[in-house]
Parts: sequence; C-alpha cells; structure tokens
Amino acid sequence: MGATTVTLYGAGQLGTQVARILRARTRYEVDGPYTRADRERALDSGAEVVVIATTSFLADVADDIRAAVDAGSNVIVSAEECADPWAVDRGVATRLDELAKEHGVTILGAGLNPGFIFDSLVLTLTGVTEEVRGIRVDRTVDLSGFSGTVLHRLGIGFSREQFARRDAAGEIHGHIGFPQSMHVTADALGVSISRIDRQIDPIFAEREHDARELRVAAGESAGFVQRYTATVDDAPWFECAFTGHVALESISRSPRDTITIDAARTISMVLEPGLNPQSGSSSVIANSVDRVVRAAPGWVTVAALPPAMPRQ
Ligand SMILES: NC(=O)c1ccc[n+]([C@@H]2O[C@H](COP(=O)([O-])OP(=O)(O)OC[C@H]3O[C@@H](n4cnc5c(N)ncnc54)[C@H](OP(=O)(O)O)[C@@H]3O)[C@@H](O)[C@H]2O)c1
Repeated sequence: MGATTVTLYGAGQLGTQVARILRARTRYEVDGPYTRADRERALDSGAEVVVIATTSFLADVADDIRAAVDAGSNVIVSAEECADPWAVDRGVATRLDELAKEHGVTILGAGLNPGFIFDSLVLTLTGVTEEVRGIRVDRTVDLSGFSGTVLHRLGIGFSREQFARRDAAGEIHGHIGFPQSMHVTADALGVSISRIDRQIDPIFAEREHDARELRVAAGESAGFVQRYTATVDDAPWFECAFTGHVALESISRSPRDTITIDAARTISMVLEPGLNPQSGSSSVIANSVDRVVRAAPGWVTVAALPPAMPRQ
C-alpha cells in the first residue's frame, strides 16, 4: 500500500506541529503547511486528507472545507465549532455533509478540546456504566503557549473596561467548543439537551506575565474561569468548568483534568498533569488521519469513530 497523502492548510502552531509529527512517520507523504497565499495549492491539492488548521469558526472555514471536498479530499479541521457543526449552522452543516457524501469523502472536526477530553474520553468512560445520570468535567490549562491571536480570542490581555465592553459585544469567546462537546456526547447517549448556559469570569493579573507571544500587564486579564451547563429534563446534566491562565502558578493552580460520571457506581478520573493543549491537539489531529481515511463518507463527529492512535 502506498503512502497516504496529506496536505496542510494553516501554518500556525498547530499546522506546523501536525506536519512535523506526520513527516516523522514514513506512511505519509506530507505537503505544507501552506499559508493564505497558497490557499488554492493547499485546498485543491486532491490529497487523500487535507488538514485545515486556521481559525475557530465554521463560517470562516466552510468555503475552505467545500473547496477541499470538491477536490476529492477527506478533511480534518481544527476549528472548534466544527466538532459539531449542526450546533452552529444546521444549513451549512447539512450542505457540506451532503457534498462529502456525493464525493465519497469524510469531514471531521478534531482536536483535544473539543474532540477528546470533553467528549471522546467522556464517552469512553460511560461505557462501563449502566446509565449516566450526569457528567462533570473540570479542566485547568496553562494558556501561555498559545499564539497572540488565539489568546486575544480567548479574552486575554484586556483591561477591566475593555473586557466588560467586549464581553457585552459578544467579542470575548473564552474557550470555544463546549456546546459542541456537550451535543456530541448527548447525541451519542441518546439524550436531548434543552438549554446550555454559559458564564465567563475574568481573572486580572496582579503583576506582569510573559506568555509566549503576549505580554500581559498588571491589571489586564491573564485568565478566566468559564462554566457551561447543559440542561436535560429541567436539571443540570453536563457541567463543564474550564480555568485557563497564562501563569497558573500565580493563582496557585496547575494543569489538571477531572472527569466525573454520575452513575450507579460513580466514576472519577483525574489526569495530573492535565493534558497539554499544544502537544495534545497536534497529536490527536495527526493521529486522526487514518481513522478519517477509513470512515464512512459525510461529516462525522468523534462519537462515530474509533480512538485516534499513533500507529507508526
Ligand atoms: N479543537 C481543538 O482542540 C483545537 C486545538 C488547537 C487549536 N485549535 C484551533 O485551531 C486554530 C489554529 O490553531 P493554532 O494554534 O495553529 O493558531 P495560530 O498559531 O494562531 O495559527 C493560525 C494560522 O492560521 C492562519 N489563519 C487564521 N485565519 C485564517 C483564515 N481564515 N484563512 C487562512 N489562514 C488563516 C493564521 O495566519 P495569519 O497570521 O495570517 O492570520 C496563522 O498562521 C485556532 O483557531 C485554534 O483555536 C483547536
């Protein structure tokens, strides 16, 4: 069997790392990562798999996905909203799903969060329970390794006034993708979510902090606590709490992930240290190439796929 051809679009941290991981494995022929200047070259490549690692929003990647699918490629996209595009725009999701089926290719929104901790791993754990009464996932993350663009989108580096103004204008996104993980999990378990509530509370720096690409001055937002609650039958069913900060030690925290499945025999799993957002995401995406090539055509979620594995 010949090498699997993979082209990468998006030459930021993620695209660069995924290309590095795949190039170290002889089973892949890797092209890119390409920047915006080489958009057509990347998306029209006709590679077996095109990885799109550019931005977070379905609306911003929909045309790119369409172009790659039209060229006959399977697509792995890192945009958080793409982990469950139906939760964002049913029309766009359905059209791309149908287009992928016409071309006999698969689209997958993949990553660590969403894509692993709050959905795949949760679903795997539910496999040893008789019935799920509720789910809670707490994640504490070191944000210092993200690019300046991603940090700003998360809500880092703003004064109290700027943060409040941007939050009111819907421009503070915090970490994106919790509703996607909640819907993927609920759909897989045959549960219907009636409402998802969100709250984000900034943490302002008491002193200056240097993240990899952003200096946060004293008084500016250096982190946040974000909570999402999905309601089922008028009761909280899935609760997510995410604490992110560019200097976790300054708030006496360290990276940690905890998953609790409330069941007849409650399950609790702690990952300490918590999964690293950069290496975890790039590995999940690189390790998703094989499962996407083998998947049924259409836009699938991680609930429909076997685990991502680093087959050498
Ligand atoms: N699901 C997950 O778990 C997960 C994990 C990691 C990352 N992500 C998401 O994946 C995206 C990429 O992550 P990253 O860490 O690589 O970010 P990054 O380091 O900021 O790199 C993003 C790259 O994409 C380019 N880009 C941005 N918007 C674009 C567009 N609309 N069209 C073409 N190119 C565009 C940027 O170029 P310019 O500098 O020219 O804008 C930059 O080179 C982010 O949105 C991030 O939130 C998701």
